[in-house]
Amino acid sequence: MADTAAMHPDDPSRRDFIHVAAAAGAAGAVAAVAWPMIDQMEPSSDVLALSSIEQDISKVALGQEITIKWQGKPVFVRHRTPKEIAEAVAVDHDPAEFNSLRDKQTDAERVKPGKSEWLILVGICTHLGCVPTFGQGDYGGWLCPCHGSQYDTSGRIRKGPAPLNLAVPDYAFLSDTKVKIG
Ligand code: FES
Repeated sequence: MADTAAMHPDDPSRRDFIHVAAAAGAAGAVAAVAWPMIDQMEPSSDVLALSSIEQDISKVALGQEITIKWQGKPVFVRHRTPKEIAEAVAVDHDPAEFNSLRDKQTDAERVKPGKSEWLILVGICTHLGCVPTFGQGDYGGWLCPCHGSQYDTSGRIRKGPAPLNLAVPDYAFLSDTKVKIG
């Protein structure tokens, strides 16, 4: 995980840093210029490692999801099937159903344009913080085992005590197969 890796001495970025520092030392006069630059860059790269992670999603098959750890929290990266997407979007087009949502958000507001097959969520129930499980409940999405909150295939709260939808973290696609979270 990125946060622990950032603190670990075996972290590749740390090793690279040490190699660069050693090379700068060997270069004599160059070192005086290079060191302050590297020294200033190092804390910000640590901070970046703590605040964001990059994840290869090429192996996440259709209909599957992975859970990764980001800032100590589980994050679900779900590769949604056309059926899951259709069920989520159908709610948006049914005024009665949409108005019944506790935390009104369209599916489009919860995914990136043109990437609706990828749903990325903080996997923490908004009731008291348990981790919901996919594929259970009445709405085809997640069920929280603690007090029975149910989320749909967009991660929206539909039933049970949770007040809010599963949160969508800040993220961006770096390519078709790589996403940066945070
Ligand atoms: S913590 Fe999920 S329903 Fe209570």
